[in-house]
Formats: sequence, structure tokens, C-alpha cells
Amino acid sequence: MSTSRIRTASRIVAALSAASCLAAGLAAAPAAADPRPRTLGELAKRHHKYFGSATDNPEFTDAAYMELLGSEFGQTTPGNAMKWYATEPERGVFDFAAADEVVSFAKAHHQKVRGHTLVWHSQLPAWLTEGTWTADELRAILKNHIQTVARHYKGRVIHWDVVNEALNEDGTYRESLFYKALGPGYIADALRWAHEADPHAKLYLNDYNVDGIGPKSDAYYILIKQLKADGVPVEGFGLQGHLALQYGFPAGVQENIQRFADLGVDVAITELDIRMPLPATPEKLATQATWYAEYVKACLAVEKCVGVTIWDYTDKYSWIPSVFPGEGAALPYDENLRPKPAYQAIRKVLGG
Ligand code: XIL
Repeated sequence: MSTSRIRTASRIVAALSAASCLAAGLAAAPAAADPRPRTLGELAKRHHKYFGSATDNPEFTDAAYMELLGSEFGQTTPGNAMKWYATEPERGVFDFAAADEVVSFAKAHHQKVRGHTLVWHSQLPAWLTEGTWTADELRAILKNHIQTVARHYKGRVIHWDVVNEALNEDGTYRESLFYKALGPGYIADALRWAHEADPHAKLYLNDYNVDGIGPKSDAYYILIKQLKADGVPVEGFGLQGHLALQYGFPAGVQENIQRFADLGVDVAITELDIRMPLPATPEKLATQATWYAEYVKACLAVEKCVGVTIWDYTDKYSWIPSVFPGEGAALPYDENLRPKPAYQAIRKVLGG
């Protein structure tokens, strides 16, 4: 055998033994060759869904918080920055600074963004609620607001919650500023105007207490069916998912998601949190964990359920204690950014 052949042969032997070492190494540590998804966002992606968190601008100075926000989640929603009071603080004067900050962060971290929200009865600027308007004036103000904001974020948001919380608990229309002046047709108008401004964003109606089957979700079912029959561009239904342990887990969540999917709209879980009367105990946290798992499981079971967003991810920044005194501990991470049983339960249900 020539020296060069010997060299070649020994190279082959070396390569083979390296390969077998590698194979042995693989068997001992499969994670090295088959990197497992490590984050909730990556795990959800394997199901062709996103897993995201809302966020808010004051939190942007908290480095540890931002690190987790940017790494663990595949989607974000500005918790307040896109609301009317923030985006049009004076009539015709738009301010996108806060919302742009969230959207830029999301882009830098390859996260999808849900736009929240164009039309809502709450968190409106004083100039709007304190003014007196004819129906024509209010219609023009509404159209200008929707189209200016939707155009600004065109191509940068996957969804818009076009109308938020339009119905009462019994399924009747909420008597908002817009409903009182414009009648129920404001909902179809808002969807059409938003579609003109950003034809690619999926347009949602979004509400709370519509997780399971009941009078409010029944009314949305009828409303969305009618809107679709009229050719109005409604493309999604958002279940906020603000649950509370003391009220029980809503009945028929998966069935409810499925019936909207069957109507031909996507469904998103948009603001999930599960609060409890404080103090949190190991028992309450264990129940909370099973509820998170059950809700996420219901979404995974329906193809047109596109993803889950929690309403921020840590108890440090949850909105609950300020709005529901004596309640809290609603999110999967505690106030020190440590994962709670709910976090482990979500991971498990996502296959992690
Ligand atoms: C909440 C925010 O998280 C709070 O910071 C704010 O003070 C009030 O609004 N339903 C919605 C969200 O659609 O916009 C609300 O967000 C929570 C309830």
C-alpha cells in the first residue's frame, strides 16, 4: 500500500471512529444533535402557533424582564401603547412613540405583534369623551383614527383587535360612545376602514367572558356570522381569557373555539391570565397550573386557533392587583421572574 493510500485509509478510520464517538455521544446526550425547543415560543411554533406576552413601556427599563420577554416569547402585544389615549392624545395629533418602541423591540427579537386596539369604550382621550359631536363628526373622527393608526403599522402587525369589548354580558350591544351615536353599524364600518388601511392584517373582534359557551359568546357567534354574510372583513375572534379561580373554569372552551373556527374565522387567545384571591397558596397555584394547561390544550386542539398571548408574563407587572383589589398572582412567572407551576404546566402541554 502506498503511503498516500495508508494516509487515506487512516483518515477514513479516524473519520469513522470520530463518527462512532459522535454517535455514542449522541446516544448519551441527544440534546446535542436534536436541539429541543427551549422556550414557550419555540414549543408553540412546532404546533404552528405562537405563544406570546403583552408588555408595557414602563417595563422597558427592567433589563432582566426584557431579557426574558425577548427570548421566551414568539409574539407580543402592547398592553396600552396602541390605545386611543396614547396614539391620538389630541384631536388629529398622533403619537406613536410608545407603540413604536414595542414594535421595534418585537422586530429585533423576531416576534409577531398583535395590534390592540382601534375602537374601545375605555382609555379614550378626554378631548373625545368630553366633546360633543354630531354623528357625522364622530364617524369622521373614528375613520381617521382607525386608518391613521392602521396605516402606520401596516405590514408590522399580524392582527388588529379592531373593536374591543363591543357587547354586554347578556349579548346586547354595549352602549359605548360609538354605539350611542352611530348605532351597531359602527362595527362593520370600523372593520371595513381598517381593512382599507391594512389589507393584510387579520381583523378581530375581542372580548372577555367569551371563553366558553354562554350568552355573550353566542351573541358574538351570531354577530360574526352576520358580518361574514354581509361581506364585512372580520377574520378573527379574540378570547381575552381573564379567568379567576373563584369563578370556576369556563365550560366548553374547546367547543367554543371550534364553533368560531367552523364559521371560518381564526381564533386567538389574546389576554390570558388566571387570578386568585391573595395570598397565593401551593394549592391555588396548582389549580392555576391545570387551568393554564387546559386553556392552552383547547387552543392546540383547534387548527384555526392561531396562538396564545398572556397578559404580561410576570406577577411583577400584572394589571390585576390594581383593578381587582385583593386578587393577583395571575401569571406564569412570579414577582421575581421565577417560573411558577403554571409555567411548567404550559411547557408540558406544548410538549416541552
Ligand atoms: C389593561 C392594561 O393592562 C392596564 O395597564 C390598563 O390600566 C387597563 O387596561 N381588557 C383589555 C385590555 O382589552 O386592554 C386591558 O388592559 C385589560 C382588559
